Amino acid sequence: MSNIKSINFKDKKALVRVDFNVPLDKEFRITDDTRIREALPTIRHILDQGGSAILMSHLGRPLEKLDANGNINKQKFTLQHLVKHLRKKLKARVNFADDCVGKVAAKKAAALKPGEVLLLENTRFHHEEEGGDEGFSKQLAALGDVYVNDAFGTAHRAHASTTIVARYFVKNHKCFGFLMEREIENATRAMKNPEKPVTCVTGGSKVSDKILLLETFLDYADNILIGGAMAYTFMLAKKGAVGNSLVEADRVKTAREFLKKAKDAGVKVLLPKDSVCGDKFGADAQVQVCPSNQIPDGWMGLDIGPSAAKSFAGVIRKSKTVIWNGPMGVFEFPAFAEGTKAVAKACAAATKKGAFTMVGGGDSVAAVNQLKLAKKVSFVSTGGGAMLEFLEGKELPGIKAIHE
Ligand code: 3PG
Ligand code: MG
Repeated sequence: MSNIKSINFKDKKALVRVDFNVPLDKEFRITDDTRIREALPTIRHILDQGGSAILMSHLGRPLEKLDANGNINKQKFTLQHLVKHLRKKLKARVNFADDCVGKVAAKKAAALKPGEVLLLENTRFHHEEEGGDEGFSKQLAALGDVYVNDAFGTAHRAHASTTIVARYFVKNHKCFGFLMEREIENATRAMKNPEKPVTCVTGGSKVSDKILLLETFLDYADNILIGGAMAYTFMLAKKGAVGNSLVEADRVKTAREFLKKAKDAGVKVLLPKDSVCGDKFGADAQVQVCPSNQIPDGWMGLDIGPSAAKSFAGVIRKSKTVIWNGPMGVFEFPAFAEGTKAVAKACAAATKKGAFTMVGGGDSVAAVNQLKLAKKVSFVSTGGGAMLEFLEGKELPGIKAIHE
Protein backbone atom coordinates (compact mmCIF):
# COMPACT_ATOMS: atom_id res chain seq x y z
CA MET A 1 0.00 0.00 0.00
CA SER A 2 0.94 3.63 -0.33
CA ASN A 3 0.74 6.52 2.03
CA ILE A 4 -1.46 9.44 0.91
CA LYS A 5 1.54 11.76 1.19
CA SER A 6 3.62 9.58 -1.11
CA ILE A 7 1.10 9.62 -3.95
CA ASN A 8 1.42 12.30 -6.58
CA PHE A 9 -2.12 13.48 -7.28
CA LYS A 10 -1.15 16.02 -9.94
CA ASP A 11 -3.50 15.72 -12.91
CA LYS A 12 -4.87 12.53 -11.37
CA LYS A 13 -8.47 11.68 -10.65
CA ALA A 14 -8.75 10.28 -7.16
CA LEU A 15 -11.71 8.04 -6.45
CA VAL A 16 -12.38 8.71 -2.77
CA ARG A 17 -14.70 6.61 -0.61
CA VAL A 18 -15.97 8.81 2.20
CA ASP A 19 -18.59 8.07 4.84
CA PHE A 20 -21.05 10.92 4.35
CA ASN A 21 -23.78 8.95 6.10
CA VAL A 22 -24.72 12.00 8.17
CA PRO A 23 -27.95 12.65 10.07
CA LEU A 24 -30.50 14.83 8.26
CA ASP A 25 -33.65 16.49 9.61
CA LYS A 26 -37.10 16.39 7.99
CA GLU A 27 -36.14 19.15 5.56
CA PHE A 28 -32.98 17.19 4.68
CA ARG A 29 -30.70 19.64 6.43
CA ILE A 30 -27.54 18.19 7.94
CA THR A 31 -27.84 18.10 11.74
CA ASP A 32 -24.27 16.92 12.43
CA ASP A 33 -21.60 17.35 9.77
CA THR A 34 -18.73 15.78 11.74
CA ARG A 35 -18.12 13.05 9.18
CA ILE A 36 -17.98 15.59 6.36
CA ARG A 37 -15.66 17.95 8.23
CA GLU A 38 -13.35 15.11 9.13
CA ALA A 39 -12.99 14.06 5.49
CA LEU A 40 -12.14 17.57 4.26
CA PRO A 41 -8.34 17.42 4.85
CA THR A 42 -8.07 14.42 2.51
CA ILE A 43 -10.12 16.06 -0.24
CA ARG A 44 -8.29 19.37 0.19
CA HIS A 45 -4.94 17.63 -0.02
CA ILE A 46 -5.84 15.99 -3.34
CA LEU A 47 -7.10 19.28 -4.80
CA ASP A 48 -4.13 21.28 -3.50
CA GLN A 49 -1.77 18.80 -5.15
CA GLY A 50 -3.40 19.51 -8.50
CA GLY A 51 -5.67 16.49 -8.59
CA SER A 52 -9.42 16.14 -8.75
CA ALA A 53 -11.66 14.13 -6.42
CA ILE A 54 -14.54 11.81 -7.25
CA LEU A 55 -16.39 11.26 -4.01
CA MET A 56 -18.57 8.25 -3.35
CA SER A 57 -20.61 7.40 -0.27
CA HIS A 58 -23.75 5.77 0.95
CA LEU A 59 -26.46 7.58 2.88
CA GLY A 60 -28.75 5.51 5.08
CA ARG A 61 -30.07 2.15 4.01
CA PRO A 62 -32.28 2.96 1.00
CA LEU A 63 -32.80 -0.67 -0.02
CA GLU A 64 -34.23 -1.49 3.39
CA LYS A 65 -36.57 1.51 3.31
CA LEU A 66 -38.33 1.34 -0.06
CA ASP A 67 -41.32 3.62 -0.64
CA ALA A 68 -44.96 2.46 -0.79
CA ASN A 69 -44.50 1.38 -4.43
CA GLY A 70 -41.44 -0.69 -3.65
CA ASN A 71 -39.09 1.85 -5.22
CA ILE A 72 -36.01 3.49 -3.82
CA ASN A 73 -36.91 6.70 -2.02
CA LYS A 74 -34.47 8.87 -3.96
CA GLN A 75 -35.84 12.09 -2.60
CA LYS A 76 -34.93 11.03 0.91
CA PHE A 77 -31.65 9.25 0.30
CA THR A 78 -30.05 11.34 -2.44
CA LEU A 79 -26.57 12.69 -1.78
CA GLN A 80 -27.70 15.85 -3.54
CA HIS A 81 -28.67 17.00 -0.03
CA LEU A 82 -24.97 17.46 0.72
CA VAL A 83 -23.79 19.34 -2.37
CA LYS A 84 -24.36 22.88 -1.12
CA HIS A 85 -22.70 22.19 2.20
CA LEU A 86 -19.70 20.60 0.50
CA ARG A 87 -19.26 23.56 -1.83
CA LYS A 88 -19.28 25.89 1.14
CA LYS A 89 -16.84 23.81 3.15
CA LEU A 90 -14.42 23.03 0.32
CA LYS A 91 -14.67 26.35 -1.48
CA ALA A 92 -14.30 24.34 -4.65
CA ARG A 93 -16.41 23.46 -7.63
CA VAL A 94 -18.56 20.48 -6.68
CA ASN A 95 -20.41 18.70 -9.44
CA PHE A 96 -23.02 16.01 -8.92
CA ALA A 97 -23.68 12.82 -10.92
CA ASP A 98 -27.13 11.40 -10.34
CA ASP A 99 -25.89 7.85 -10.63
CA CYS A 100 -22.61 6.46 -9.29
CA VAL A 101 -22.04 4.27 -12.36
CA GLY A 102 -23.11 4.36 -16.01
CA LYS A 103 -22.72 6.95 -18.74
CA VAL A 104 -23.45 10.08 -16.72
CA ALA A 105 -20.91 9.21 -14.02
CA ALA A 106 -18.28 8.25 -16.59
CA LYS A 107 -18.83 11.42 -18.61
CA LYS A 108 -18.75 13.75 -15.62
CA ALA A 109 -15.70 12.01 -14.18
CA ALA A 110 -13.86 12.29 -17.50
CA ALA A 111 -14.64 16.01 -17.71
CA LEU A 112 -13.26 16.78 -14.23
CA LYS A 113 -10.45 19.32 -14.12
CA PRO A 114 -7.72 19.64 -11.50
CA GLY A 115 -9.11 21.28 -8.38
CA GLU A 116 -12.66 20.10 -9.04
CA VAL A 117 -14.86 17.66 -7.16
CA LEU A 118 -17.51 15.27 -8.39
CA LEU A 119 -19.94 13.81 -5.89
CA LEU A 120 -21.55 10.58 -7.03
CA GLU A 121 -25.09 9.57 -6.12
CA ASN A 122 -25.70 7.17 -3.20
CA THR A 123 -23.81 3.94 -3.90
CA ARG A 124 -26.56 2.00 -2.10
CA PHE A 125 -29.08 2.83 -4.82
CA HIS A 126 -27.61 -0.30 -6.44
CA HIS A 127 -27.93 -3.64 -4.68
CA GLU A 128 -24.56 -4.51 -6.22
CA GLU A 129 -22.96 -2.16 -3.69
CA GLU A 130 -23.83 -4.21 -0.63
CA GLY A 131 -23.43 -7.42 -2.60
CA GLY A 132 -19.83 -6.45 -3.37
CA ASP A 133 -20.45 -7.14 -7.06
CA GLU A 134 -17.28 -7.31 -9.13
CA GLY A 135 -18.69 -5.82 -12.33
CA PHE A 136 -20.12 -2.87 -10.42
CA SER A 137 -16.84 -2.42 -8.52
CA LYS A 138 -14.94 -2.40 -11.81
CA GLN A 139 -17.23 0.32 -13.15
CA LEU A 140 -16.53 2.44 -10.08
CA ALA A 141 -12.79 1.75 -10.33
CA ALA A 142 -12.75 2.86 -13.97
CA LEU A 143 -13.72 6.39 -12.89
CA GLY A 144 -10.44 7.14 -11.10
CA ASP A 145 -6.68 6.73 -11.44
CA VAL A 146 -6.10 6.32 -7.71
CA TYR A 147 -8.29 4.93 -4.92
CA VAL A 148 -8.39 6.61 -1.52
CA ASN A 149 -10.42 5.09 1.29
CA ASP A 150 -11.31 7.61 3.98
CA ALA A 151 -14.57 5.97 5.06
CA PHE A 152 -13.64 4.59 8.46
CA GLY A 153 -17.31 4.53 9.51
CA THR A 154 -18.04 1.97 6.79
CA ALA A 155 -14.75 0.05 6.92
CA HIS A 156 -16.49 -2.93 8.54
CA ARG A 157 -18.60 -3.48 5.41
CA ALA A 158 -17.18 -5.58 2.58
CA HIS A 159 -19.12 -3.56 0.03
CA ALA A 160 -18.17 -2.71 -3.55
CA SER A 161 -17.12 0.90 -2.91
CA THR A 162 -15.40 0.25 0.43
CA THR A 163 -13.56 -2.98 -0.28
CA ILE A 164 -13.96 -4.79 -3.60
CA VAL A 165 -13.10 -1.72 -5.69
CA ALA A 166 -9.59 -1.69 -4.17
CA ARG A 167 -8.77 -4.89 -6.07
CA TYR A 168 -8.69 -2.93 -9.30
CA PHE A 169 -5.92 -0.59 -8.20
CA VAL A 170 -2.30 -1.63 -7.90
CA LYS A 171 -0.55 -1.22 -4.56
CA ASN A 172 0.98 2.18 -5.17
CA HIS A 173 -2.33 3.53 -6.48
CA LYS A 174 -4.38 3.03 -3.34
CA CYS A 175 -4.14 4.43 0.15
CA PHE A 176 -6.02 5.51 3.25
CA GLY A 177 -7.14 9.09 3.64
CA PHE A 178 -6.03 11.17 6.64
CA LEU A 179 -9.16 10.39 8.66
CA MET A 180 -8.76 6.66 8.20
CA GLU A 181 -5.09 6.95 9.20
CA ARG A 182 -5.99 8.84 12.35
CA GLU A 183 -8.75 6.43 13.33
CA ILE A 184 -6.44 3.43 12.97
CA GLU A 185 -3.58 5.19 14.73
CA ASN A 186 -5.67 6.24 17.74
CA ALA A 187 -7.50 2.97 18.23
CA THR A 188 -4.21 1.10 17.92
CA ARG A 189 -2.58 3.40 20.45
CA ALA A 190 -5.40 2.64 22.89
CA MET A 191 -5.24 -1.11 22.38
CA LYS A 192 -1.54 -1.90 21.93
CA ASN A 193 0.73 -1.18 24.89
CA PRO A 194 -1.47 1.57 26.32
CA GLU A 195 -0.16 3.57 29.23
CA LYS A 196 -1.54 2.14 32.50
CA PRO A 197 -3.87 2.22 34.31
CA VAL A 198 -6.26 1.49 31.45
CA THR A 199 -9.98 1.95 31.99
CA CYS A 200 -12.56 0.73 29.52
CA VAL A 201 -16.04 2.13 29.90
CA THR A 202 -18.92 0.49 28.17
CA GLY A 203 -22.65 0.97 28.12
CA GLY A 204 -25.57 0.53 25.81
CA SER A 205 -28.47 -1.80 26.09
CA LYS A 206 -27.28 -5.28 25.23
CA VAL A 207 -24.67 -7.63 26.62
CA SER A 208 -24.92 -9.58 23.36
CA ASP A 209 -23.76 -6.51 21.38
CA LYS A 210 -20.82 -5.85 23.68
CA ILE A 211 -19.62 -9.21 24.95
CA LEU A 212 -16.86 -9.52 22.33
CA LEU A 213 -15.69 -6.03 23.18
CA LEU A 214 -15.70 -6.83 26.91
CA GLU A 215 -13.67 -9.98 26.34
CA THR A 216 -11.10 -8.08 24.28
CA PHE A 217 -10.85 -5.49 27.06
CA LEU A 218 -9.70 -8.29 29.38
CA ASP A 219 -6.46 -8.40 27.37
CA TYR A 220 -5.34 -4.92 28.35
CA ALA A 221 -7.72 -3.18 30.77
CA ASP A 222 -7.09 -2.66 34.47
CA ASN A 223 -10.68 -1.52 35.05
CA ILE A 224 -13.88 -2.18 33.16
CA LEU A 225 -16.85 0.03 34.00
CA ILE A 226 -20.23 -1.23 32.89
CA GLY A 227 -23.25 1.06 32.63
CA GLY A 228 -26.33 1.27 30.43
CA ALA A 229 -29.11 -1.30 30.42
CA MET A 230 -26.56 -4.09 29.94
CA ALA A 231 -25.58 -3.58 33.58
CA TYR A 232 -28.92 -5.09 34.66
CA THR A 233 -28.18 -8.40 32.96
CA PHE A 234 -24.99 -8.40 35.04
CA MET A 235 -27.06 -7.58 38.14
CA LEU A 236 -29.25 -10.60 37.40
CA ALA A 237 -26.09 -12.71 37.09
CA LYS A 238 -25.28 -11.57 40.62
CA LYS A 239 -28.78 -12.50 41.75
CA GLY A 240 -29.95 -8.91 42.16
CA ALA A 241 -33.56 -7.76 41.73
CA VAL A 242 -33.84 -5.47 38.71
CA GLY A 243 -37.59 -4.75 38.56
CA ASN A 244 -38.70 -3.99 35.02
CA SER A 245 -35.24 -3.04 33.74
CA LEU A 246 -34.32 -4.11 30.25
CA VAL A 247 -32.43 -7.41 30.49
CA GLU A 248 -31.36 -10.25 28.24
CA ALA A 249 -32.43 -13.31 30.18
CA ASP A 250 -30.55 -15.57 27.78
CA ARG A 251 -27.28 -13.74 28.47
CA VAL A 252 -27.22 -14.05 32.24
CA LYS A 253 -24.89 -17.03 31.99
CA THR A 254 -22.62 -15.12 29.57
CA ALA A 255 -22.50 -12.25 32.05
CA ARG A 256 -21.69 -14.58 34.96
CA GLU A 257 -18.93 -16.27 32.96
CA PHE A 258 -17.49 -12.92 31.99
CA LEU A 259 -17.30 -11.80 35.63
CA LYS A 260 -15.43 -15.01 36.45
CA LYS A 261 -13.00 -14.53 33.55
CA ALA A 262 -12.33 -10.94 34.66
CA LYS A 263 -11.64 -12.11 38.20
CA ASP A 264 -9.23 -14.77 36.96
CA ALA A 265 -7.49 -12.18 34.77
CA GLY A 266 -7.19 -9.74 37.68
CA VAL A 267 -9.27 -7.10 35.91
CA LYS A 268 -11.51 -5.00 38.12
CA VAL A 269 -15.12 -4.81 36.91
CA LEU A 270 -17.30 -2.04 38.30
CA LEU A 271 -21.06 -2.29 38.05
CA PRO A 272 -23.22 0.67 39.07
CA LYS A 273 -23.99 0.48 42.81
CA ASP A 274 -27.10 2.56 42.36
CA SER A 275 -29.39 3.51 39.48
CA VAL A 276 -31.70 6.31 38.52
CA CYS A 277 -34.94 4.46 37.92
CA GLY A 278 -38.10 5.47 36.11
CA ASP A 279 -41.61 4.08 36.32
CA LYS A 280 -41.62 3.98 32.50
CA PHE A 281 -39.33 4.60 29.55
CA GLY A 282 -39.96 8.26 28.82
CA ALA A 283 -38.80 11.80 29.43
CA ASP A 284 -41.76 12.36 31.76
CA ALA A 285 -41.26 9.26 33.93
CA GLN A 286 -41.45 9.41 37.73
CA VAL A 287 -37.90 9.11 39.04
CA GLN A 288 -36.25 7.54 42.08
CA VAL A 289 -32.72 6.39 42.93
CA CYS A 290 -32.43 2.72 43.99
CA PRO A 291 -29.61 0.29 44.69
CA SER A 292 -29.07 -1.41 41.31
CA ASN A 293 -29.71 -4.85 42.83
CA GLN A 294 -32.91 -3.81 44.59
CA ILE A 295 -35.01 -2.18 41.91
CA PRO A 296 -38.71 -2.51 42.79
CA ASP A 297 -41.20 -4.09 40.40
CA GLY A 298 -42.74 -1.51 38.11
CA TRP A 299 -39.47 0.47 37.97
CA MET A 300 -36.59 0.25 35.54
CA GLY A 301 -33.00 1.41 35.73
CA LEU A 302 -32.47 4.13 33.09
CA ASP A 303 -29.16 5.62 34.23
CA ILE A 304 -26.35 4.88 36.66
CA GLY A 305 -27.05 6.52 40.01
CA PRO A 306 -25.18 9.40 41.69
CA SER A 307 -22.96 7.20 43.81
CA ALA A 308 -22.07 4.98 40.81
CA ALA A 309 -21.37 8.11 38.73
CA LYS A 310 -19.02 9.34 41.45
CA SER A 311 -17.08 6.08 41.66
CA PHE A 312 -16.91 5.65 37.85
CA ALA A 313 -15.67 9.22 37.48
CA GLY A 314 -13.07 8.63 40.22
CA VAL A 315 -11.61 5.61 38.41
CA ILE A 316 -11.58 7.45 35.06
CA ARG A 317 -9.82 10.47 36.50
CA LYS A 318 -7.01 8.27 37.84
CA SER A 319 -6.48 6.50 34.50
CA LYS A 320 -3.80 7.11 31.91
CA THR A 321 -5.77 5.53 29.07
CA VAL A 322 -9.55 5.54 28.71
CA ILE A 323 -11.62 3.88 26.01
CA TRP A 324 -15.32 4.69 26.14
CA ASN A 325 -17.99 3.00 24.06
CA GLY A 326 -21.67 3.34 24.91
CA PRO A 327 -23.70 5.71 27.10
CA MET A 328 -24.43 5.10 30.79
CA GLY A 329 -28.14 5.78 30.50
CA VAL A 330 -30.89 7.20 28.32
CA PHE A 331 -29.07 10.52 28.01
CA GLU A 332 -31.60 11.84 25.48
CA PHE A 333 -33.93 12.33 28.49
CA PRO A 334 -32.52 14.97 30.87
CA ALA A 335 -33.58 12.99 33.98
CA PHE A 336 -31.36 10.11 32.88
CA ALA A 337 -28.39 12.02 31.44
CA GLU A 338 -26.34 12.65 34.56
CA GLY A 339 -24.39 9.37 34.51
CA THR A 340 -23.26 9.83 30.92
CA LYS A 341 -22.45 13.46 31.69
CA ALA A 342 -20.32 12.46 34.68
CA VAL A 343 -18.36 9.97 32.55
CA ALA A 344 -17.85 12.53 29.77
CA LYS A 345 -16.65 15.16 32.24
CA ALA A 346 -14.31 12.69 33.94
CA CYS A 347 -12.84 11.81 30.51
CA ALA A 348 -12.25 15.51 29.87
CA ALA A 349 -10.60 15.89 33.30
CA ALA A 350 -8.35 12.86 32.73
CA THR A 351 -7.34 14.26 29.33
CA LYS A 352 -6.39 17.54 30.94
CA LYS A 353 -4.12 15.62 33.31
CA GLY A 354 -2.36 13.98 30.36
CA ALA A 355 -4.36 10.79 29.83
CA PHE A 356 -5.14 9.46 26.38
CA THR A 357 -8.93 9.24 26.07
CA MET A 358 -10.83 7.85 23.15
CA VAL A 359 -14.57 7.88 22.56
CA GLY A 360 -15.97 5.52 19.96
CA GLY A 361 -19.36 4.22 18.97
CA GLY A 362 -22.35 6.20 17.74
CA ASP A 363 -24.24 6.94 20.97
CA SER A 364 -21.34 7.89 23.23
CA VAL A 365 -20.05 10.14 20.45
CA ALA A 366 -23.46 11.81 20.25
CA ALA A 367 -23.27 12.29 24.02
CA VAL A 368 -19.88 14.06 24.01
CA ASN A 369 -21.05 16.20 21.11
CA GLN A 370 -24.26 17.12 22.92
CA LEU A 371 -22.23 18.06 25.98
CA LYS A 372 -19.77 20.02 23.82
CA LEU A 373 -16.89 17.99 25.23
CA ALA A 374 -15.65 16.50 21.95
CA LYS A 375 -12.65 18.86 21.87
CA LYS A 376 -11.76 18.02 25.47
CA VAL A 377 -11.03 14.34 24.92
CA SER A 378 -8.06 13.01 22.95
CA PHE A 379 -9.97 11.42 20.10
CA VAL A 380 -13.57 11.01 19.00
CA SER A 381 -14.12 8.32 16.43
CA THR A 382 -16.40 8.78 13.41
CA GLY A 383 -17.10 5.06 13.49
CA GLY A 384 -19.98 3.37 15.27
CA GLY A 385 -20.08 -0.28 14.27
CA ALA A 386 -16.67 0.06 12.61
CA MET A 387 -14.96 1.25 15.79
CA LEU A 388 -16.70 -1.44 17.82
CA GLU A 389 -15.40 -4.14 15.47
CA PHE A 390 -11.92 -2.60 15.38
CA LEU A 391 -11.79 -2.60 19.18
CA GLU A 392 -12.99 -6.20 19.17
CA GLY A 393 -9.77 -6.97 17.34
CA LYS A 394 -11.42 -7.80 14.03
CA GLU A 395 -9.68 -7.09 10.77
CA LEU A 396 -11.97 -4.66 8.94
CA PRO A 397 -12.42 -5.50 5.24
CA GLY A 398 -12.07 -1.87 4.14
CA ILE A 399 -8.67 -1.67 5.85
CA LYS A 400 -7.48 -5.07 4.66
CA ALA A 401 -8.33 -4.21 1.05
CA ILE A 402 -5.87 -1.30 1.04
CA HIS A 403 -3.09 -3.44 2.51
CA GLU A 404 -3.53 -6.21 -0.06
C1 3PG B 1 -22.79 3.94 10.06
O1 3PG B 1 -23.28 5.05 10.22
O2 3PG B 1 -22.88 3.03 10.90
C2 3PG B 1 -21.99 3.70 8.81
O3 3PG B 1 -22.14 4.74 7.92
C3 3PG B 1 -22.32 2.37 8.19
O4 3PG B 1 -23.67 2.32 7.88
P1 3PG B 1 -24.43 0.93 7.95
O5 3PG B 1 -24.48 0.52 9.40
O6 3PG B 1 -25.79 1.18 7.38
O7 3PG B 1 -23.64 -0.05 7.12
MG1 MG C 1 -24.23 1.24 11.44
